[in-house]
Amino acid sequence: MKNKKTTTSGIAPGIRKAVFPVAGLGTRFLPATKANPKEMMPVVDKPLIQYAVEEALRAGITDLIFITSSSKRAIEDHFDSHFELEVKLETAKKKELLRIVKNILPKGASCIYVRQTETLGLGHAILCAKNVVGNEPFAVLLADDLIDNHEETHCLSDMVQRFKTVKSSIIGVEKINIADSEKYGVVGFKDKFLTFGPIENIIEKPKPKAALSPFGVVGRYILTPAIFNILEIVKPGKNQEIQLTDAISKLLKSEPVYAYEFLGTRYDCGDKLGYLKAIIAYGLKHPEVGTAFRKHLKNLRDL
Ligand code: G1P
Repeated sequence: MKNKKTTTSGIAPGIRKAVFPVAGLGTRFLPATKANPKEMMPVVDKPLIQYAVEEALRAGITDLIFITSSSKRAIEDHFDSHFELEVKLETAKKKELLRIVKNILPKGASCIYVRQTETLGLGHAILCAKNVVGNEPFAVLLADDLIDNHEETHCLSDMVQRFKTVKSSIIGVEKINIADSEKYGVVGFKDKFLTFGPIENIIEKPKPKAALSPFGVVGRYILTPAIFNILEIVKPGKNQEIQLTDAISKLLKSEPVYAYEFLGTRYDCGDKLGYLKAIIAYGLKHPEVGTAFRKHLKNLRDL
């Protein structure tokens, strides 16, 4: 209940809710995503969505809001208990596996599923969370963006900490190759940007010539609830979709918005090459198979 308190500025001090837009069709991975949600694709032995959820839980989030669609039921099952499996593992005395399966969702965390009945874009997906989020700041995590965090700092945890000071929206960014600007929301700054600072503008997937800076948005956001009223009126933008980026650009007219360049590596797992890179990175450090995998890759180096 403590988190429910609001400050004098009307903004609640903590972030306890996170929105995971997972209704997308994952066409870039067909046929793999015909019957399976792209967010359930594994990187070694964990599905992408679980990595994102773990990052949120680590940042202190307790309410996990999934914006989902009819073909995404596997996500609900993944975060539910599986009685038959648990009994089998217990009987077979497979304690470690049982622990893993039972701890996918820790006590105190809860899942809320909201159906996005039309795929009208990321901004529309976030708007679907309006009633569940209410009048408090919240996080957004795009599971496609797998963030291999730096040992000591974690992207969303850092953003949550910084929110306590600035009480304004914060967007995760990374340095990009300007030639790739059409894959990202790109932010612009008035002053020199060093790791954390206010943005001046943001454009969704600009041509390289129109890119405002070499900093692209990665799928980590902390947003104030003011974004919802804007999302309700924002017109379809890039690809005729309701773009979260366009709503953030409008939000800037009434509130500051900050960018945070996190430490760590982001893998674009919505892209085949990015996904393969993630598998190699996570495979190499996996406690069970890492050493053998490294040996195997070394043997392959003449390919
Ligand atoms: C979305 C956002 C974009 C952001 C990107 C990060 O695009 O619209 O601003 O840079 O996620 O992954 P998408 O990749 O869903 O097309």
